[in-house]
Amino acid sequence: MEQLQHYSTFLKESISSYNFPENPTNLYDPLRYFLTIGGKRIRPMLTLISGNVFNLSKEECIHAALSIELFHNFSLIHDDIMDLAPVRRGKTTVHEKWNSNIAILSGDVLLIEAYQQLVKYSDERLPRLLKRFNETAIEVCEGQQMDMDFESRQDVSIAEYIEMIRLKTSVLIGCALEFGGILAKQSEKACSSLYNFGVELGIAFQIQDDLLDLYGNPETFGKQIGGDVIANKKTLLWLNAQQLSLENVNEIKAIKNSEEKVLQAKNIFEKCGAKAKTEVEMNLHYEKAMQSLDLLEINSDKKKPLYELANFLLNRSL
Ligand code: IPE
Ligand code: IPE
Ligand code: MG
Ligand code: MG
Ligand code: MG
Repeated sequence: MEQLQHYSTFLKESISSYNFPENPTNLYDPLRYFLTIGGKRIRPMLTLISGNVFNLSKEECIHAALSIELFHNFSLIHDDIMDLAPVRRGKTTVHEKWNSNIAILSGDVLLIEAYQQLVKYSDERLPRLLKRFNETAIEVCEGQQMDMDFESRQDVSIAEYIEMIRLKTSVLIGCALEFGGILAKQSEKACSSLYNFGVELGIAFQIQDDLLDLYGNPETFGKQIGGDVIANKKTLLWLNAQQLSLENVNEIKAIKNSEEKVLQAKNIFEKCGAKAKTEVEMNLHYEKAMQSLDLLEINSDKKKPLYELANFLLNRSL
């Protein structure tokens, strides 16, 4: 835990000392705002831990870690436009506080800043870093498009859902972990094991995000409760409820008032067993992730922070 704390402080300092130009203020103010309202910063943390597995210092890994966090923040600013989200990290979203055009453009700057960080590794590691990063970035877009396409579909399968969350969420977590291996010039095999662990962890993480979206504590969650139900998202909760009985989801769909819809969805998913089923599935993915962590051929002292972080995620409330 001590090491995680240490990394967390280091990341906070590195992010807050990020220097954006003053002007145009409507381009850079949203970025200063968004990056300083926090977030858990688990992805850059994974890069630092993974680099440490191979004895790299946090200073050697920081640019790769920042590139991941900048990309993540870019994806969130754009995601909030797509999902019409009013709140993020307990604060007004960028597109609501400013407007959508500003949110698109300042998000774009973050994506470019992510590359600026990555190209600081100008040696033979750069092609490997860029290859993984570019593949990941495209996959995230693919996942985001699938997520939106699913809003208007009634026949989404659970396999399609898992593929969608693998793309929109998990591959970035895999990439964050693999970066540590690439920075330490590890073999393809070692890097793939790290990546695969991250992908499995990411699937559990996104299922939990779906659960928290409806059942999280409104005081601490930092996002609008029930946003997924309001936006007709095909979350695992929804798909499980639909599979248990079509009536479950038809009842929710028939409600026009958003507040009432969210309240009813909460009750129906719980009563029909969809919530319990989703929790079981989330735990199965966490177990699978833990098994792939067990199989990672690294020294057990170095593995400890990875177990700690995975454990923190499983028990998170935000
Ligand atoms: C939110 O990610 C987007 C998802 C993939 C669920 P986080 O829950 O890591 O968001 P922050 O960065 O901590 O706010
Ligand atoms: C977001 O998934 C994934 C990406 C941003 C790529 P969600 O839409 O579920 O994330 P939150 O709940 O808004 O953080
Ligand atoms: Mg979304
Ligand atoms: Mg969203
Ligand atoms: Mg969500």
